[in-house]
Amino acid sequence: MLDQSPRFWEIFFEVYEALPRQGPGNRASAARALSLCDGLPAAPGILDMGCGAGGQTLHLADLTDGRIVAVDSHAPFIDRLKAIAAARGLGGRIRPLCADMAQTGLKQGSFDLIWSEGALYNLGLDAALPLCRDHLRPGGHLVFTDAVWRSSDVPDAVRQGFEQDYPAMGWTHDVCAAVARHGLDLRGHFTLPDEAWWQDFYTPMQARVRELREKYAHDVEAGGILDAIHRETELHAAHGDCYAYEFFVTRRPG
Ligand SMILES: C[S@@+](CC[C@H](N)C(=O)[O-])C[C@H]1O[C@@H](n2cnc3c(N)ncnc32)[C@H](O)[C@@H]1O
Repeated sequence: MLDQSPRFWEIFFEVYEALPRQGPGNRASAARALSLCDGLPAAPGILDMGCGAGGQTLHLADLTDGRIVAVDSHAPFIDRLKAIAAARGLGGRIRPLCADMAQTGLKQGSFDLIWSEGALYNLGLDAALPLCRDHLRPGGHLVFTDAVWRSSDVPDAVRQGFEQDYPAMGWTHDVCAAVARHGLDLRGHFTLPDEAWWQDFYTPMQARVRELREKYAHDVEAGGILDAIHRETELHAAHGDCYAYEFFVTRRPG
């Protein structure tokens, strides 16, 4: 997707900026992953890497009494999270920060919990895992989701989509091996249920695409871009069993 035209990105962000979240995930899965973290302090210091508009940041604020630094490099997502956090009275607990995950300037060794849903792949796991580990205090947890293959018999359209977005995508055992390679203990992992793709992500995406089709009714180029965005949801409905988002719960040895 990286070599798309400026117009593609304009429409892409017009769709994505309006969504509750920018990737698969839901509150129940976040709660399940959190339950696999033992020994968290009563009010953990949390870093949410690649938070998008903060869908999971808000779940974490609800599920813990922690203080959360939420980092994303796309300023409109951060502005939206700031506004929502303030409106919900969470301004004192959520600190949205527009920054590159690779260079946050945040103190090393200081966080009890680093959370990242569908974002570490942007850096590549071999760069992201040591970076996250170094920001954790000894005994702190890194919890993240990553896309993984579940079948070697994948339709071309699905394979091409992932090859563009995430060429290094592997299988669950590849991610487990990367976790071990970077000195983290694996505490557990599980697959996101299909409803986590639809609830807060693909269903609102389809609704947003419908809305924009009206706005761009006479714009052929925009219509084609909206078709391409919508097609991802159709491919998932048809072939979502070929791949998954897996939640990994890991711990920096104490
Ligand atoms: C698939 S979205 C997931 C967003 C959110 N975690 C969610 O699940 O709804 C990936 C996010 O990573 C952010 N991102 C990509 N590269 C980044 C980087 N180097 N630094 C910070 N954020 C980055 C994107 O802006 C995007 O919001």
